[in-house]
Amino acid sequence: MFRYGSGGVAHWGTLCGTMVSAGAILNLASKDYGDIIHELMGWYTEYPFPSNRYDAYCKFPEQVQTVAKSPLCHASVSKWADVVGTTVSSQEKKDRCAKVTGDTAFHMIELLNQHVDGKFTAIWKPSEEFSHCTACHTGKESALNNEQGYMNCTPCHTDHTK
Ligand code: HEC
Ligand code: HEC
Repeated sequence: MFRYGSGGVAHWGTLCGTMVSAGAILNLASKDYGDIIHELMGWYTEYPFPSNRYDAYCKFPEQVQTVAKSPLCHASVSKWADVVGTTVSSQEKKDRCAKVTGDTAFHMIELLNQHVDGKFTAIWKPSEEFSHCTACHTGKESALNNEQGYMNCTPCHTDHTK
């Protein structure tokens, strides 16, 4: 059912497929899915993928780790392939995406367990890199309220306040 998420939805490089499936599972599991997805998504954007959790049995242990600063498959995969110096269709990349899937599923379960135990607290906040942008642009309390979403702005926009 979730295969369409592969490659950021049918290889369009949009939302990382791990978040596509994690979001659906969380929606099935809890009425508070929005809060948990918000936290998982924020975590995803700042996690140095892939972890070494699978190094004992994966094909490429000790892979280079990169922080995507984005929930987009495009940013996550292209940045990693650039830093490693490989292609986006290499075997190393496939190994990396399998680990990203495992890492995200693992954290999703951690958050869900916290929620079931009544111990879930959201800790993600926009980083200093772009928290001032959201203060002016994002949400009903902001001055302009003309931007949709919580993605880090700085990979795509230059900071016009600097
Ligand atoms: C102090 C408030 C404030 C902050 C902080 C701020 N902006 Fe803006 N931004 C504005 C205003 C005001 C405009 C002009 C709005 C208009 O003319 O409709 C604007 C315009 C923009 C535009 C429209 C294109 C342009 O350049 O005119 C973009 C994109 C944008 N801001 C992105 C950002 C990003 C990204 C950040 C953080 C790195 C940021 N802004 C921080 C107030 C702010
Ligand atoms: C993945 C890339 C990406 C990210 C991340 C992103 N933007 Fe944008 N943003 C765009 C694109 C593309 C447009 C459309 C630009 C156009 O067609 O003029 C846009 C449009 C805008 C506009 C309207 C532009 C205008 O000329 O009035 C604003 C304001 C804006 N973004 C602010 C932000 C802020 C603030 C953030 C972070 C909270 C952010 N964006 C994150 C890519 C991005």
